[in-house]
Amino acid sequence: DTEHFTFDPGFTSTGSCESKITYIDGDEGILLHRGYRIEDLAEHSDFMDVSYLLLHGELPSRSEKLAFEKAITYHTMVHEQLNYFFRGFRRDAHPMAIMVGVVGALSSFYHDSTDIGDPHQRMIASHRLIAKMPTIAAWAYKYSVGQPFMYPRNSLNYAENFLQMTFGVPAEEYKVSPTLARAMDRIFILHADHEQNASTSTVRIAGSSGANPFACIAAGIASLWGPAHGGANEAVLLMLQEIGHKDRIHEFIKRAKDKDDPFRLMGFGHRVYKNYDPRAKVMQKSCHEVLSELGVDDPLLELAMELEKIALEDDYFVSKKLFPNVDFYSGIILKAMGFPTTMFTVLFALARTVGWVAQWKEMIEDPNQRISRPRQLYTGYAERPYKPIDKR
Ligand code: SDX
Repeated sequence: DTEHFTFDPGFTSTGSCESKITYIDGDEGILLHRGYRIEDLAEHSDFMDVSYLLLHGELPSRSEKLAFEKAITYHTMVHEQLNYFFRGFRRDAHPMAIMVGVVGALSSFYHDSTDIGDPHQRMIASHRLIAKMPTIAAWAYKYSVGQPFMYPRNSLNYAENFLQMTFGVPAEEYKVSPTLARAMDRIFILHADHEQNASTSTVRIAGSSGANPFACIAAGIASLWGPAHGGANEAVLLMLQEIGHKDRIHEFIKRAKDKDDPFRLMGFGHRVYKNYDPRAKVMQKSCHEVLSELGVDDPLLELAMELEKIALEDDYFVSKKLFPNVDFYSGIILKAMGFPTTMFTVLFALARTVGWVAQWKEMIEDPNQRISRPRQLYTGYAERPYKPIDKR
């Protein structure tokens, strides 16, 4: 059987998938969204710009951007009944568990978006998902800290609105810090899309059956949660806290190289990048800017840089081409911004929603699209006669 394990929601037998959205050159450490370098987008665009680009293929004109921002802004509220859905979770539920549940529940509120054959409904579903993720993410945080939910405010931009729903309280006016808002927006850009990673492939496979788009995004959130994927940003910070001091770095490097030890250096290595993840470079630069603007002196940043230096001089990491990835520095910025580690992957899911939605839409709009039916390499028993229980 020459067919090996391959996905086929538009994937060819080599296990690859056709898409026009994102290009990665793993050897050169290049990431392009619709042809634009991630470094340029992070420097010169905002998240709404990049969201429009991922969905429509071009950077928006001023009027297109205004219309898009308005469409998103006026979908930021969620159905009031969803408010009660949160109450079913234990107070100490991981916010990612809440995200999987609540986003999946959206599929029971927006029946019109299940008509995915209608381009207008597909666009509405896309706008609803991009718009409502910050509200749901902020409420998952509020629920975990026992504070009242804050409603979206249409006078604020996407990142500002998320910050006020997360850190604002009814008792006083929340003043959005431009530094925090810019840092938040840039972090969203760096996490927006990344080709056919595990969670995006999950969304494509779920969507290939024609399933409700909200349920497909919930499947993507579940896949992203794993520590080998989006859960790594939380794992990096916990790892740095465990290392504690640069004198202990060599102990952990040794463990990471020991095949009998399941420990891996979190935030290092990548399925595609065999060079420095360009997002990690932008993230590290942002780290220094945000921490100094916030006046935060976090020893974990220095520890992370020392760890990176030692690892990149170590033959094991050099020979296996293991470099820092997007998750290595993101946690340090998020911690400085006031987020608990349990919210790190939630922020990744919030930002990645536009990538998941753009990839889902591209697949659904492909006239040759068929249901995914991964093939397998069968390694089990050949046919054999039945064995009655008294012969077993
Ligand atoms: C994300 O796919 C995407 O695009 C994902 C993502 C996105 O934007 O969607 O970029 C986001 O998920 C980034 C990755 C976050 N995960 C982590 O940082 C967790 C730590 N990293 C590893 O678990 C690992 O590097 C993976 C999961 C990311 C990749 O795993 P692979 O495919 O096994 O890594 P590889 O093929 O590059 O491994 C080569 C070798 C292997 O050893 P050998 O089998 O050759 O002996 O390097 C080893 C691996 O065991 N290795 C590591 C290591 N990563 C790989 N050894 C120690 N520490 C590590 N971090």
